[in-house]
Amino acid sequence: MQQALDYAQAHHEAFVGHLEDLLRIPSISTDDAYAADVQRAANWLVDYLTSIGIAHVEAVPTAGHPIVFAEHTVDESRPTLLIYGHYDVQPPDPLELWDTPPFEPTRKNGTLYGRGTCDDKGQLMMPVNAAASYLASGEALPVNLKFIIEGEEECGSSHLVPFIEAWKDRLDADVVLICDTSMFAPGVPSITYGLRGLAYVEVTLTGPNRDLHSGTYGGAVHNPASALATLLAGLHDENHHITVPGFYDNVRLLTEDERETFRQLPFDAEAWKAAIGLKDARTEAGYSIREAISARPTCEVNGLWSGYTGVGAKTVLPSKASAKISCRLVPDQTPHEITDKLRQYFEENTPSTMQLTFRDLHGGHGVIVDTSHPAMQAAAEAMEAVYGKTPFFTREGGSIPVVADFKRLLGLDSVLMGFGLNSDAIHSPNEHFGLDRYREGTEAIIRFMKRYAS
Ligand code: BES
Ligand code: MN
Ligand code: MN
Repeated sequence: MQQALDYAQAHHEAFVGHLEDLLRIPSISTDDAYAADVQRAANWLVDYLTSIGIAHVEAVPTAGHPIVFAEHTVDESRPTLLIYGHYDVQPPDPLELWDTPPFEPTRKNGTLYGRGTCDDKGQLMMPVNAAASYLASGEALPVNLKFIIEGEEECGSSHLVPFIEAWKDRLDADVVLICDTSMFAPGVPSITYGLRGLAYVEVTLTGPNRDLHSGTYGGAVHNPASALATLLAGLHDENHHITVPGFYDNVRLLTEDERETFRQLPFDAEAWKAAIGLKDARTEAGYSIREAISARPTCEVNGLWSGYTGVGAKTVLPSKASAKISCRLVPDQTPHEITDKLRQYFEENTPSTMQLTFRDLHGGHGVIVDTSHPAMQAAAEAMEAVYGKTPFFTREGGSIPVVADFKRLLGLDSVLMGFGLNSDAIHSPNEHFGLDRYREGTEAIIRFMKRYAS
């Protein structure tokens, strides 16, 4: 393994350069205007994986953006690692809040700024660098490799499950490795064993058939913005418990062991609040911040619009009001079930003055991975070797829906070795990634491959 580690150290600068090339491609999957760029990012990966010596690489077309599939078999008797990542990114808006252009990667004091530096281009390149280090240093790869790098993670992954189903026979592996999560804190390694799922919906209330003069009609027309506000406010009770009937029916409760582990985490609630400018946190009664942001379900308004929002005052009584709402789910809630329960809540509570439109946008299942899995233990040892500290096993609040799909369709568990930090501003302006973590992550995966194989 030493040769591969030495290679990675010596080529860190080159690895950063390659990542910068990928970051310059604005592969924004949700916006059709960028479809050609998304394709260009897929092509870049095909060329790059080929150039480091991966035997078979292709961009598989889908009805949406392509999926990059690659395969490198060293020896049938060795275990096979299926590496998953995504090369698409979130839109950079609001642009004016970026200090440097989002698609011109910029280094400042050992930190690389740009959209995708952390989520997920910077992280997906770490297993790629690990593979390159084995292949170029002349040291035998300890594992066989397969890669699935998708281009639609940030917009619902709608073509990924059909791909996995169609390619099932080619995807045979022993375990999945994903670098697309966070570590506990700088220098405090962790391995994520739980992720939340998601149910995303959009609701619109329509009152009158057009916007009205608020003076000539106001008083006898129920305002859709007010009606929607009432419905949204009703989603939580005074204990910040979600009121949607049946919402908690399938929630797997935290075990006493888990709660004890959560309490042991070096989590600083004051610092956490200060970092995001909060005076007070608001959790579901009875749960700590750490539990509430990772192991309990939520129901959040993500967007809200109605009426006049331009400059000055326009006296108008709006015809419509809309909200985007996402629920983070925990096992064993299902997106389908929760979407139905939300629909029922809105249908039953929409007043007779309004017409309801309810749209299911997308969803995904939450997961809990067994921490005693041999690959989890190998990952923990690899992390410990790099950071000199035993990693914590943590649950995280974000979602990577394919983790549940890999389990359901291929029977595969996923090891989530994340090197992001919550402060990296993923999905936000000035997203960044520490180049020290880029180096450490590459090293940890080189070590993981070796340990898992033995
Ligand atoms: N990499 C993130 C998920 C993540 C971030 C997990 C940090 C744990 C820690 C992923 O790219 C993402 O943004 N997922 C979306 C879900 C998707 C269905 C749009 C999310 O969590 O909002
Ligand atoms: Mn991601
Ligand atoms: Mn993301």
